[in-house]
Amino acid sequence: MKLLIVSSIYPDAIEKLRKEHDVVCAFNAKDEALKALIQDREVLIFRSGVSITADIMASAPNLQLLVRAGSGTDNLDLDYMNQRGILLVRIPEPGAKAVAEMSFAFMLALARNLLEADRATRQGRWAKTEFSNGHSLIGKTLGIVGAGNIGARVGHMGVVWGMNVIGCVEHPTPKASANLKEKGIRMTDFAEVVATSDFVSLHVPLKDTTRNMFSAAVIAGMKPGAFLINLARGGVVDEQALYKALVEGRLSGAALDVHKEEGDGKISPLAELPNVLLTPHIGAGTRDSQREIGERIVEIVTDFFERNVAPKLAKELVVA
Ligand code: MLT
Repeated sequence: MKLLIVSSIYPDAIEKLRKEHDVVCAFNAKDEALKALIQDREVLIFRSGVSITADIMASAPNLQLLVRAGSGTDNLDLDYMNQRGILLVRIPEPGAKAVAEMSFAFMLALARNLLEADRATRQGRWAKTEFSNGHSLIGKTLGIVGAGNIGARVGHMGVVWGMNVIGCVEHPTPKASANLKEKGIRMTDFAEVVATSDFVSLHVPLKDTTRNMFSAAVIAGMKPGAFLINLARGGVVDEQALYKALVEGRLSGAALDVHKEEGDGKISPLAELPNVLLTPHIGAGTRDSQREIGERIVEIVTDFFERNVAPKLAKELVVA
């Protein structure tokens, strides 16, 4: 089959796919190049960082299958995809585990000011007193905005760390509340999460209802001294308002893996603040999660084309 891979995925998976298929790789390609490369392709494999627009898909009359090597669909024109009847298979689980762990890496690094302490120590500054005033996680309130697949994992970890964990979802149901309760997480509303959490961890998809969700007004309503962690999407947080809250000392710190502007040469306005931790959208990226995703990609492509199980895939795996 003719495959186009437009984002970096686990190298072993590419090697395996090449043995059976005609594979073209074009990481970080611009729209015009993608439109040319996709013309005769039947399968498109992608992650975040590339926009799969109607225009690009329209250039590929034979396109049948999209494999999202991860979770988010904010970079995909779902309406066009559905209208064309192109199948989408997502692989959310491996990345969810890695993102949940990353939330804790952020929380601990912020609470104990690890980056600053490391910098000082490397420079020969033995700032034991200065860096002995961090925060413990135990006993603190962890608020999960978007207590779904990833958020509930983060919350569960928080419970194990001795935190008081609360969470909210867009459409609460008794079943969702019961599932969270089983993990030790109390379901509440957005307002309580914002106003009472010492650490707020964001895990919502980017869509109309979540764009700019952490606006200036919401950030102003956060508990004084709280920490904000964004592993969702850049568009969920008003970065200018966050900057102001951090400079004014209303918030203690923030960690962001996702940004309004992403890519080479883009520098977040938050980069000049010492109480901010920034990473390049690597939450889902451990070698273990990417290996698992790579293995699933090979299985999905194999099943789809060689074992003729498209209807089964369509029923079980397609989320649109
Ligand atoms: C995802 O949605 O799975 C993450 O953004 C990871 C990625 O695609 O790079």
